[in-house]
Amino acid sequence: MIGQMVANLRKAESLQLICYNQNVRVLGIETSCDETAAAVIEDGAKILSNEIASQVEIHARYGGIVPEVASRQHTLSIIPIISAAMTKAGLDWGGIDAIAVTYGPGLAGSLLTGVNTAKAIALARSLPLIGINHLEGHIYANWLTGNNPQFPLVCLIVSGGHSDLVLMRGHGDYTLLGRTRDDAAGEAFDKAARLLGLGYPGGPVIEKAALNGKNNIALPKSWIKGSHDFSFSGVKTFLLRLVEEGKITNPADAAASFQHTVVEVLVTKTIAVALEYEVRQIILAGGVAANKALRQALTSQSPLPVSIPPMSLCTDNAAMIAACAYYKFQKGYKSDLSLDVVPGLKLS
Ligand code: KG4
Ligand code: ZN
Repeated sequence: MIGQMVANLRKAESLQLICYNQNVRVLGIETSCDETAAAVIEDGAKILSNEIASQVEIHARYGGIVPEVASRQHTLSIIPIISAAMTKAGLDWGGIDAIAVTYGPGLAGSLLTGVNTAKAIALARSLPLIGINHLEGHIYANWLTGNNPQFPLVCLIVSGGHSDLVLMRGHGDYTLLGRTRDDAAGEAFDKAARLLGLGYPGGPVIEKAALNGKNNIALPKSWIKGSHDFSFSGVKTFLLRLVEEGKITNPADAAASFQHTVVEVLVTKTIAVALEYEVRQIILAGGVAANKALRQALTSQSPLPVSIPPMSLCTDNAAMIAACAYYKFQKGYKSDLSLDVVPGLKLS
């Protein structure tokens, strides 16, 4: 009986037959890492504002994110960014229906700034508070594209901390099918860039260098047969050896070869999982989804429709947090003021 009800709900969701309330405006706040972001989203899809204060230049001096510096910057930027998001949306607090905030995973000090600010606003304005998992937020960037993704689907989330293959049968319904056993894809890009002396942040600089290089260095691809998991530490270590042995004469070729290797593994395994689970489509999410080689390879090789957010919505932003919160809000999900940060939060 309950099984049949759940099946019917999933069917209705996959056919987009569930009616959601209209004109619901959510203020989203995101401070999990090194971007201070706020956005106002209407009905989980329409972007009224999307403001980001990036700390990239500050952390570039250190070659990576310094957590203490990140949290201090968040405290400086959070109020101006929220004010800017409200002004751009043309709204006062009476026009906001809920406050959404990332409460994990991420850096504890960074998350605290966003969570405490969101709690203060929710309390002062008597607004519902909705804690959002950052990874779920990345997934929901795909609902800001104008095309409603169709369930069931497979999502590849590739960010600085995660490389997850997730089966989604409906809103908020996640089954983890595969994950990285060591480095995340973004982390591998960041480490490879550092090894090659290309700078920070690793993904964009590898992508740029690769444009002037050739995929002419054979690097190991980890397929982990019989599993949907990934592993990127082998390719990174192989690259390190080549650098130590002085065998890298052209960093652009190394960048092109590295990018090709990582993209081939991600794309091949994602398509295989999607076909095995007979889903309707594939969606891509997370900072590494901004990589043009990955976007192009997945779109051209997949026999199933592929949804990829615009590049600006792949890396960290608050629009995705507010979009995700809309679907939770519609289902009556709310956090209370005891909401705390969970740096190691998993998708469940
Ligand atoms: O999702 P995100 O902005 O933050 C996390 O949640 O981690 O992802 C950041 C990661 C970094 O490792 C960065 O190097 C990578 O995404 N990234 C890219 C590109 N842009 C950002 N990786 C490959 N190509 C890119 N164009
Ligand atoms: Zn992220």
